[in-house]
Amino acid sequence: MTAIDKTRSTSVAEEAPLVALGDVHLRFGANEVLKGIDLEVRRGQAVSIIGPSGSGKSTILRCITGLLRPQRGTIRVGDTQVDTLRSEAELIALRKRVGFVFQQYNLFPHLTVLENLVIAPTRVAGRDRAAAQQEARALLDKVRLSHKEAAYPGELSGGQQQRVAIARALAMRPELILFDEVTSALDPETVGEVLTVIRDLVQEGLTCVLVTHEMRFAEEISDQVYFTEAGVIVEHGPAPRIFGRPESERTRAFLRRALGEGARTAPARPAPLAEALPFERLRFAL
Ligand SMILES: Nc1ncnc2c1ncn2[C@@H]1O[C@H](COP(=O)(O)OP(=O)(O)OP(=O)(O)O)[C@@H](O)[C@H]1O
Ligand SMILES: [Mg+2]
Repeated sequence: MTAIDKTRSTSVAEEAPLVALGDVHLRFGANEVLKGIDLEVRRGQAVSIIGPSGSGKSTILRCITGLLRPQRGTIRVGDTQVDTLRSEAELIALRKRVGFVFQQYNLFPHLTVLENLVIAPTRVAGRDRAAAQQEARALLDKVRLSHKEAAYPGELSGGQQQRVAIARALAMRPELILFDEVTSALDPETVGEVLTVIRDLVQEGLTCVLVTHEMRFAEEISDQVYFTEAGVIVEHGPAPRIFGRPESERTRAFLRRALGEGARTAPARPAPLAEALPFERLRFAL
């Protein structure tokens, strides 16, 4: 499998990472869940975290957004030292910059699809309503749901709701998005449409961290892959190396199991939408 062809420039290696975790330790009571996590995400990179259930993947994402505070170690997102944030205002400011999409989409059921996208930019970020609506429509186009802007979430399929949730996260113009198992609650036939949307965003330069059990998809879209087990990063590296030549026997065993048992081939790329906008243009031009 070859990595997708990205349109962005590759000078990112010289920049400081956008996200950096250093020796992060976190325990719940006596249960040590993260045991010294080091992880970096550079601007424009797609980073996947793979590993067995309970290995700490979601906990790492929750640390990045400040939802959980580690007992030891450092977490930086841009200029923000997340591990030392104290006030609610600082945490809210961080969460405006870091989008989070979960397995459960949690859309507002009483609001239309369009309103779901407009509410946070206008109420939280104080943006002009007409401009927020215009941007929301461009994002709905991007996730191929323009025809559903007046629908309510209850009238959509799971895959459609998840695409709205992704568009809603993008509407806040985050610096990066964390995806936590966003396809694992979906019917198999709607998984592909959500992965297609994520693939498009990654190709256009979205910075993201993706926790997924879709191994073929992780292999295809990721710049870097981290394999976690029992709260440690067993190994990490470029996707072709982790999937093609894993160094650790534990990684090999995990991949054998994960790829052997019902591994899904990533869906074929459909024809691009003629008017699709690159992510960077959406962020800065609207
Ligand atoms: N709020 C919490 N309180 C106590 N223990 C927790 C809490 N959240 C997670 N844990 C524990 O931390 C460990 C890691 O959980 P985490 O959700 O990060 O795993 P994961 O790798 O995301 O697993 P999965 O693939 O099943 O989603 C587990 O043992 C879990 O039981
Ligand atoms: Mg999880």
